[in-house]
Amino acid sequence: MIRYWQTPKAGNRSRLTLKECESPPLPEHQVRVRVDAVGLNFADIFALTGLYSATPGGAFIPGLEFAGEILEIGAQCQRFTVGQRVMGVTRFGGYSSQIDIDPDYLIPLPDQWSMAQGAAYPVQTLTAWYALTRLGAVQANHQVLVHSAAGGVGLQSMKLCQALGATPVGTVSSESKASWLKQQGFDQVLVRDRHFARQLTKRGQQFDLVLDAIGGEVQKASFNALNPMGRLVVFGAAEFTPSGQRPDYLRALWRYLKRPRYDVMDMISSNRSVLAFNLIWLWEQKSEMQSLLKELADVPIPAPHVGHRFAFEQAHDALSLLQSGQTIGKVVLTLR
Ligand SMILES: NC(=O)c1ccc[n+]([C@@H]2O[C@H](COP(=O)([O-])OP(=O)(O)OC[C@H]3O[C@@H](n4cnc5c(N)ncnc54)[C@H](OP(=O)(O)O)[C@@H]3O)[C@@H](O)[C@H]2O)c1
Repeated sequence: MIRYWQTPKAGNRSRLTLKECESPPLPEHQVRVRVDAVGLNFADIFALTGLYSATPGGAFIPGLEFAGEILEIGAQCQRFTVGQRVMGVTRFGGYSSQIDIDPDYLIPLPDQWSMAQGAAYPVQTLTAWYALTRLGAVQANHQVLVHSAAGGVGLQSMKLCQALGATPVGTVSSESKASWLKQQGFDQVLVRDRHFARQLTKRGQQFDLVLDAIGGEVQKASFNALNPMGRLVVFGAAEFTPSGQRPDYLRALWRYLKRPRYDVMDMISSNRSVLAFNLIWLWEQKSEMQSLLKELADVPIPAPHVGHRFAFEQAHDALSLLQSGQTIGKVVLTLR
């Protein structure tokens, strides 16, 4: 039997229900993976609450990444072997004990990594890499401001900056996250206060690149702290995170109306730019995704940090913790 978490439709996270079904026949061009660990992403919360533009209409299984072992190989598949450990990305459908998938979306799991580390790798590391290299054009001497630096994408970005010789400056919302980051060897960490713009001005530091998935005042202040030729790369808006199981539409509308806006004429004069992306687009661009993964394989960074593990049945608790904004590193559901 396959166990999976499904919601009948987006809009209220409490509708997510654990279900069971029989295994269907394996399509001949796919491989079957026994899932051992599922990586949670902030996008899962936005998808379940209906605030994510890529959310499927109607019923769907959330989840964008997983790690496990190959159980079976379709008749027309030449790659991978039964028993091989893999990690994979999927455009939804990840919260499941078994996944049938096109092998192009799988990569071998390094021998020394746990399944949980594998489930913590693809989405957040690809996001960090795409933001830093493709859009951010990061250079070895760059000062890079990384928001939510103790989170999944943030931590991978901090490590990648160091590996590329750039200087990462992390921001977080609590002292406990800051001291944890310092213990990991990141010496420039800022605990954001309510007056972030003033805080940055007081610090007097300018940046060549900013990675932002918070939005609002934090984003605007960060743009203002860019050096000439600097880039602000935006890939999320955590300030819209609902406080409960459903979105607070009025609060979201207020934030939407107050969102920072950028004038291209001003950008020309100040010689600073804004770029943005949504990585789910890569799902359709397999060769681009594979070349990004290949580039990443050559960058020496340690295995992802799994900060929080939950049993598969505890998906609601895991999502609540992730949504609280208190997590460090990756939140993972484990199946064995
Ligand atoms: N565009 C894309 O393709 C793409 C791909 C992956 C991820 N993302 C985005 O990147 C961000 C990071 O994703 P992740 O999965 O790695 O999550 P994460 O960073 O592990 O967790 C989200 C973090 O957002 C911060 N945050 C700021 N305001 C918040 C609020 N009002 N409520 C809760 N948290 C808040 C918190 O850190 P601090 O409070 O310490 O800042 C929290 O830990 C998310 O916004 C996600 O949507 C975008």
